[in-house]
Amino acid sequence: MSSLLVDDIGELVTNDVGGEGGPLGIRRDVALLVDDGRVAWIGPSRDAPAADRRLDAQGAAVLPGFVDSHAHLVFAGDRAAEFAARMAGQPYTGGGIRTTVGATRAASDDELRATVRRLHGEALRQGTTTMEIKSGYGLTVADEARSLRIAAEVSEETTFLGAHVVPAEYADRPDDYVSLVCGPMLAAAAPHARWIDVFCERGAFDVDHARAILACGQAVGLGVRVHANQLGPGPGVQLGVELGAASVDHCTHLTDADVDALASSRYDCMCADSLHTTTVATLLPGAEFSTRSPYPDARRLLDAGVTVALATDCNPGSSYTSSMPFCVALAVREMRMTPAEAVWAATAGGARALRRNDIGQLGVGARADLIVLDAPSHLHLAYRPGVPLIRQVLRNGVPQ
Ligand code: NIG
Ligand code: FE
Repeated sequence: MSSLLVDDIGELVTNDVGGEGGPLGIRRDVALLVDDGRVAWIGPSRDAPAADRRLDAQGAAVLPGFVDSHAHLVFAGDRAAEFAARMAGQPYTGGGIRTTVGATRAASDDELRATVRRLHGEALRQGTTTMEIKSGYGLTVADEARSLRIAAEVSEETTFLGAHVVPAEYADRPDDYVSLVCGPMLAAAAPHARWIDVFCERGAFDVDHARAILACGQAVGLGVRVHANQLGPGPGVQLGVELGAASVDHCTHLTDADVDALASSRYDCMCADSLHTTTVATLLPGAEFSTRSPYPDARRLLDAGVTVALATDCNPGSSYTSSMPFCVALAVREMRMTPAEAVWAATAGGARALRRNDIGQLGVGARADLIVLDAPSHLHLAYRPGVPLIRQVLRNGVPQ
């Protein structure tokens, strides 16, 4: 693999916690050498080592690629009419999930594959270099397994969400559905998944069912994540902390006890450093935008010392956006995160939510997943909302 020098970087966001440059580890007027898909060197252009190729950043900002740690891309159909009804005053209940389950079961593998690839490509063009993808619209053994197989074709961060809702055919016997999820469905899904997730919410899975399902997943080596406290207060966040979840997602309705549990979460893990040993709160402002709901209180979490990530929740019901820049802008404008906090949460925060330390940062040794902005500073991501500011994307050092 050849080397590449990214030259004339006006502002480099490294997220390198050890160095100077504030919380984003900002370096100014530097060059960055990519060798063998990794960041090999950072320093003043005049000292740059020789490289096979050169990419002129023309004084622009360079950031780690976005890490979108929460997305549901394997589905068929859309629910634009449901969105229009919400904008006319209808509430979001999650009931539309079953509509998408019907369409997904009826779709061919190639149709599902085309949607996954289209949305994954759309996200990549907006700067997302790692995207977690969940199943959860199949809800049969065969449909969950194929959803994950197709997701795994484009991402190594795949999540088994057989416990998204109880499908209609099990409506009056949820215990039987939980047995199916923990038994044959998990067995078929696990070879294609890194994570297990449950929608722990009134109308979906209660805390006992959620605990049982997550424990089954852990027993076969899957990491835990939870959809928690989205539509109202509930036990999901504290269940996630109890089980050592990498992330609890949504966190829209939190009690003080939930915030305390997140702030004091600490786990021994087999990580190379101690950065990945808490439960991250992943906030999904696209869902509140699209369901016209109150945004989560990001300041309360940050001020309590909780690690916060931002993700899109890309799905056809509650948040049909693949745009991390849009989520950064929402987090700044609507959730009172500073631009630096939002950019960190969309990069390093997402990496922590996936317990990864090779992505979400651009220190020497990191994977060369980076974006060149059409702007001089990371501030422009929130300052210029809705504007396509991603000029160039590199994954593993390869221009996309
Ligand atoms: O994360 N909350 C549960 N699942 C999705 C919504 C899925 C849907 O409405 O289709 C979410 O918002
Ligand atoms: Fe979700």
